[in-house]
Amino acid sequence: MDPGNLFRLLGPEIQDPEEETFLLFSQEIPSQNLGFVDSQATTIDLTISGKDYIIHQSPTILNRPGSTTGAVIWKITPLVASWLSSPENLLWKTGALSSSSSVLELGCGISGLVGLAVSPLVSRYVLTDQTYVARLVEKNLEENILVQQRASSQKRKGKPSSAAANPIKLHFTPLDWELDEVTRSLTGSPDVASFDAVIACDCIYNDTLIEPLVQTCADACGLRQRVDQETGETAPPSLCIVAQQLRDPEIFEGWIKAFAKRFRVWRVPEEMLSKELRANTGFVVHVGILRVAGVP
Ligand SMILES: C[S@@+](CC[C@H](N)C(=O)[O-])C[C@H]1O[C@@H](n2cnc3c(N)ncnc32)[C@H](O)[C@@H]1O
Repeated sequence: MDPGNLFRLLGPEIQDPEEETFLLFSQEIPSQNLGFVDSQATTIDLTISGKDYIIHQSPTILNRPGSTTGAVIWKITPLVASWLSSPENLLWKTGALSSSSSVLELGCGISGLVGLAVSPLVSRYVLTDQTYVARLVEKNLEENILVQQRASSQKRKGKPSSAAANPIKLHFTPLDWELDEVTRSLTGSPDVASFDAVIACDCIYNDTLIEPLVQTCADACGLRQRVDQETGETAPPSLCIVAQQLRDPEIFEGWIKAFAKRFRVWRVPEEMLSKELRANTGFVVHVGILRVAGVP
């Protein structure tokens, strides 16, 4: 990948987090519920890039005391799954993501949907969240991978699909931003020491989580810098892709200020997003690369 291609297309880097907050919250933001797809349903049917998925979720776990927001799927996630799995997406077109990429998702929730949609296009996709999502995310992976394998072998008239040949491409592993350390073992492979991209979808909604989330993003993207130091090579930086629903300007500003201290940040421009993620939809996608120590 030539990272320059992607960054040329992304346009000017964000210089002033307060201005970014002002610009985003000056748009017309549609009034929506908190942002659940449906907080009462136990299953949700979705079609992403022409493929059908059934997502099991748990209104009961959502309503448990404590922070269990990932027990149901949130609206931005199917939109990001469609956008990222489209061959028209700038990340594929610029080579920032490719069939050899390794991807880490933070705060994936019970659905694993972005991983289900994107993992067939990359080499490795690791889903992470707190342990309470494990049982449902694993059920969703197992059932939906089977459905996709059946659909693709029907298309290939009974020949086994490539997904069947590589069942460990997509897996879930617990990672708590407040409790766990990010290490290269997160990749799940002794041959892979870092990630090409780190994705977080709708993970910014609570000011106490901002610092641990930004630190986890920095630690995960920092694995690539560590590999570079060890090998003396300069691999393209890990991209941190953060998609969120615009809710509270103070929480957004707290996040973008903290994120911009550790990352150089770009907002993905309108023309590079699907229409469901563009301005005035109430959603926004930023891309960051970790600042190099000592370089402002
Ligand atoms: C609003 S939900 C979004 C879930 C999923 N990405 C989606 O969009 O459907 C926020 C996610 O952040 C996760 N989260 C919150 N605090 C966390 C922490 N300390 N460590 C890891 N994940 C956390 C929650 O468990 C939840 O899955």
